[in-house]
Amino acid sequence: MSEAIGRVREDLAGANPVVRRSEHADFQSNAALALARRVGAGPRDLAADIAAALDGEADGPIASAVPSGPGFLNLTVAQDALWAQVAARLADPRLGVGTPERGRRTVIDYSAPNIAKEMHVGHLRTTVIGDSLARVLGFLGADVVRQNHLGDFGTQFGMLIQYLDEHPDAAWHQDELDGGTSAVSALDGLYRSARAEFDADPAFADRARSRVVALQSGEPATVAAWKDIVAESERSFRAVYDRLGVLLTPEDSVGESFYHPMLGDTVAELVDAGLVVESEDALVFYSSEVSGPEGRPVTLMVRKRDGGYGYDATDLATIRYRIRDLEADRLVYVTDSRQALHFRLVFEAARRAGWLTGGVGAEHVAYGTILGPDGRPFKTRAGGTVRLTDLLDAAVSRARAVVADKNPDLDPAELDRIAEQAGIAAVKYADLSTSRVKDYSFDVDRMVSFTGDTGVYLQYAHARISSILRRAGDPDTAVDSVDSTVPLQPAERTLALELDAYGTVLDEVATTLEPHRLCGYLYDLARAFTAFYEACPVLKAEDPVRGNRLALCRLAVRTLGHGLDLLGIVAPDRM
Ligand code: ARG
Repeated sequence: MSEAIGRVREDLAGANPVVRRSEHADFQSNAALALARRVGAGPRDLAADIAAALDGEADGPIASAVPSGPGFLNLTVAQDALWAQVAARLADPRLGVGTPERGRRTVIDYSAPNIAKEMHVGHLRTTVIGDSLARVLGFLGADVVRQNHLGDFGTQFGMLIQYLDEHPDAAWHQDELDGGTSAVSALDGLYRSARAEFDADPAFADRARSRVVALQSGEPATVAAWKDIVAESERSFRAVYDRLGVLLTPEDSVGESFYHPMLGDTVAELVDAGLVVESEDALVFYSSEVSGPEGRPVTLMVRKRDGGYGYDATDLATIRYRIRDLEADRLVYVTDSRQALHFRLVFEAARRAGWLTGGVGAEHVAYGTILGPDGRPFKTRAGGTVRLTDLLDAAVSRARAVVADKNPDLDPAELDRIAEQAGIAAVKYADLSTSRVKDYSFDVDRMVSFTGDTGVYLQYAHARISSILRRAGDPDTAVDSVDSTVPLQPAERTLALELDAYGTVLDEVATTLEPHRLCGYLYDLARAFTAFYEACPVLKAEDPVRGNRLALCRLAVRTLGHGLDLLGIVAPDRM
């Protein structure tokens, strides 16, 4: 053994060997490149030394280590080590994935629709991305606190309440409506009428303004009307959440109004810290980090000229509360990229106020726009915003046609159930699988396809593997049947290595907050399974080969099902 490798062993035990999956072997390591200088050797020589030392360890997990290029090492894993890994993951309910996020409290702000307004296509992304992040971080051990920052505060409610008061016959409670209309949809329409009357009739505008004062000063009847509107809107949102299968519960609803009592203190702290400037009776925070076009200052409105507080002030109170009272270690805000500047300023103000300190992370998880088939922001034919429920209905009805086509003998009830599952999966997966910063086109036909990178394809892969296991008559327990001496076929090796990468991908999602990495992984896994199943007969094989292949099937179906669940997508056993 050379001196250099001796020093590697002594000094650098535990140094990160930076091992990656590779096309040239199972893995490639750049350890020799990274360590050469520290041990005073050339990287090529060190790579050769390490390879020789690894080859000397006959029973180790590495079957071969071959130096390559300027100092890389191409590593091939021993067959018995791979089989043992398959068995170990299968025996572990966590599939071998650790809890690196343990001890970290992460507050995730997502969905956040506005009271008395319908959820539209824009709310799909925040709801679906935020929910998947909550699931992944939670599985990795984080103490996730979900926050649904409902837009339930503002002068528009005074106007709406006044209008409802003057139009007692207007039906908007869910129990007064037929099934096709939601309460929030009715309120959305009434709000528009109120707005029109406000603009057209100065007397109504005056009465509406007095209502705003009544609401803000806590006049009981007005507050009761507001609560009624909030509760009824939330019921409508809940119906959408149930349909989408998201984790948000009523306890997660902490709307803008919750922070109202804290606004005075929040602003006082900013004033004391000298962070706000009075400008024409308003209080304004000026950024010292960002400037606008032509060097124009960029600001947050801390208190408006009329003494009222808006979206900016509320987010300042919110970040202060989440750090001080919720004791968050990490703050995650899932909103569209147009709010990037807003959050940069909120984070800057929170840092300068001393709330956001080095130990706390604050991240804006920004996402792009959903475009229509014409590549422009998605609108209805009449040019209005697309309601989220309409979009889901469209996907489910397309999925129904595709499922019926593939499976003409399904009874209608079963068809309905599968179509609903597939349509929702299609929409969620299409959203999650594109890199979130990008815009994407809402293409129903593509997203409900049984082939290609779609949620339906992954659901179908899950159902197909489940069916193989059913046909094998295989109880889920025969884990001990993995025989490490069985020669490993190339397609089995590829699948086993792919299965082994699950935890690494989840760690990446936790770090980057990018669920599309998990989607890409599951798609590759499903394809590796297909290639395996084509090359390696399972049911017709003899034991012990059959047992080993069934173990691969079981681990594949569990990993696929688990990964889909972390995306918030149902993994059916039959389809
Ligand atoms: N309600 C807002 C909207 O619909 C999103 C709120 C996001 N969260 C926050 N803390 N500002 O655009």
